[in-house]
Amino acid sequence: MTAIMDVAQSVDPTLDLFDEIERLKHERKAVVLAHYYQEPDLQDIADRLGDSLALAKAARERKDAEVILFCGVHFMAETAKILCPEKTVVLPDFDAGCSLSDACPADKLRAWKAQHPEHVIVTYINSTAATKAESDWICTSSNAREVVSQIPKDQPIMFTPDRNLGAWLVRELDRPMDLWPGACMVHETFSERKILAFRSEHPDAKLIAHPECEQEVLRHADFIGSTAALLHFVETDESSKFIVATETGILHEMKKRAPTKVLIAAPFDERAHDNGTCGCSECPYMKLNTLEKVYLALRDLSPRIDLDPELQRRALVPLERMLSL
Ligand code: 13P
Ligand code: SF4
Repeated sequence: MTAIMDVAQSVDPTLDLFDEIERLKHERKAVVLAHYYQEPDLQDIADRLGDSLALAKAARERKDAEVILFCGVHFMAETAKILCPEKTVVLPDFDAGCSLSDACPADKLRAWKAQHPEHVIVTYINSTAATKAESDWICTSSNAREVVSQIPKDQPIMFTPDRNLGAWLVRELDRPMDLWPGACMVHETFSERKILAFRSEHPDAKLIAHPECEQEVLRHADFIGSTAALLHFVETDESSKFIVATETGILHEMKKRAPTKVLIAAPFDERAHDNGTCGCSECPYMKLNTLEKVYLALRDLSPRIDLDPELQRRALVPLERMLSL
């Protein structure tokens, strides 16, 4: 909180930040990419809004851009840098991390691989560049099924770092995999008990959930999908009411795309207060980025993502494999 106030205080309060950011975008030949979990203002200034897969693709598509400003978390900006090493990639707050990315450090994965050389490593995009460099395949929640499905059935797989997404894939594809014990601090704290209470209060509502949620929540869901898939479902399904079990930032775009539908954020359980979140389905890392920090990052081209060229090259291999599917 203090850090957010410090940044806000270092910005001239008379500036119209929306105008300034537009001006700097042109001056810097910058493209702003934003994830659906960002604050509404940051979603609105973005040139491209999307899920992890769409944003990775978008980073490459804008050939004319010299700078990518990533309104998201560190692993997303790093992915953009791996895919576009010639571009300057800036992240408004360098501390915007991810509990999943923290859960599987590259040295631990390397040690595991040494003990299990026969396994193919499939890594969720929510991971560091160093962990990606140790992996055979990268996937996102949009394409995880496709990625795992094309690996021969008799090939043992270690799926890292999300045990919930991994367990969902095991059930969906009827395909055993070893699962790394990582989890998203936001998605794993939805409360099954409270969701069931909500469902009996709103029997006409459909429960939709991100596969990073625990099995206890997913087993009640009418639809499970990535952020992009959840948006599409709400837009196209005939129901008029939805209980949404993912980060609440998505509700901004959902309301725009389906203005007549009733959207209810799924409730958290009390554990949420103990793991550093606000207990209101918000990712504390995603919410570190602010309009002031976006302005400063574009003005100063900092904080910047820099990667060792050899690491960048190794991390690119499994990412390219995914994108070529
Ligand atoms: P997707 O946008 O790929 O669904 O990922 C959700 C997420 O948790 C990003 O951090
Ligand atoms: Fe990581 Fe979860 Fe936050 Fe996404 S919502 S950035 S997976 S902690």
